Amino acid sequence: MKPGFSLMKHFLQFKDLRAEEYAYLFERTRIIKTRFKNYERYQPLADRTLAMIFEKASTRTRVSFEAGMYQMGGSVVHLTTGDSQLGRAEPVEDSARVISRMVDIVMIRTYEQSKLERFAAHSRVPVINGLTNEYHPCQILADIFTFIEHRGDIKGKVVAWVGDGNNMANTWLQAAEILGFELHVSTPSGYEIDSKLFGAAPACLKTFKSPAAACDGAHLVTTDVWTSMGFEAENAARQAAFADWCVDPQMMQLAQSDALFMHCLPAHRGEEVAAEVIDGPQSVVWDEAENRMHVQKALMEYLLLGRIG
Ligand code: CP
Ligand code: NVA
Repeated sequence: MKPGFSLMKHFLQFKDLRAEEYAYLFERTRIIKTRFKNYERYQPLADRTLAMIFEKASTRTRVSFEAGMYQMGGSVVHLTTGDSQLGRAEPVEDSARVISRMVDIVMIRTYEQSKLERFAAHSRVPVINGLTNEYHPCQILADIFTFIEHRGDIKGKVVAWVGDGNNMANTWLQAAEILGFELHVSTPSGYEIDSKLFGAAPACLKTFKSPAAACDGAHLVTTDVWTSMGFEAENAARQAAFADWCVDPQMMQLAQSDALFMHCLPAHRGEEVAAEVIDGPQSVVWDEAENRMHVQKALMEYLLLGRIG
C-alpha cells in the first residue's frame, strides 16, 4: 500500500472535486503541457502502474491515458471485457479487490455509473471515470482547460449545449454549478437531461426548445453524437428526432463573434455538426482532443501525489 492511501480520492463525477482543486489542476496542466512541448522529461510516476479497463470502444481516452502515463515514467495495463474475466461475470467487487492490489491507479470506461462506483468502493487505489452512460468528467476537464487557454476564465460565461441530454451534457451541468458559468441546453423532446441526476433545476441551467435560441450570445457552442455508445438500438429513432439539432454556421452566427466550437469526438459531419463548423476557424476540437492527455497527467499526478510544491 502506497503512502497517502488514507487521503485517497477518486474522480468518478465532476462534482468529486471543488472549484479550488480545479483551479490547481488547470495550473498544473499548464505547467505539465509546457514541459511536454519543450521536450522536458518529467517522470514523477516512475514505478507507478495505471490499469485501464474498457467495456466500450475508445481512441482518445486510451491513447491519452496510455501516452500520458508513459511520459510520466509509469506503466500501463490495458484490459477489455473481451480479454479478461470481466466479460465472464466475475463480480466487479472481486475485480476491484484484485486489480487494486497490483496497480496504483485505475481508469474505467463502462456502462452504468453504479458499476464504476461499486468498483471504486472496493478499490485500494484511486479510480477515474473514463466515461459512463451518465458522465464523462475527463472530457469536460479537457474542454474547460481548452476554453481557458483560448479565452481565459469560464466563470460568468455562457456555454450552449445542442443535442442529446447525455453523459457530456450531464457533466457540463455539474461543471457549471461548480465553476460558475451558465449552461444553455436545447435537446429534442424526450432526450432532455435526466432530472433524476440533479433534482430541482439548478440556477445555472436554462433550457430552450430551439437550438438556435440556446446558441444566442454563447461564448462556447458544443455538441456530441446523436447516438452514444450503448444506445445503438435507438439509432433510427434518434436520426429522425435530432434532424434539427445540427450545429450549423447560422447557429454559430447567433453566438458571440469570438465564440468557440467544441466536440468531444468522434464526430459525424452532416449530423450533429456541419463540416463548415467543425472544420472552420471557430473550432478548437484538435486542441480539445490533445488536452485530454495534459489534463489527465495533472489529474493522475494529483490523485497519486497530492499537491506539488
Ligand atoms: N472523446 C472521447 O472520449 O473519445 P474516445 O471515445 O475516442 O475515447
Ligand atoms: N456521448 C458519447 C461520447 C463519446 C466520447 C458516448 O457516450 O458515446
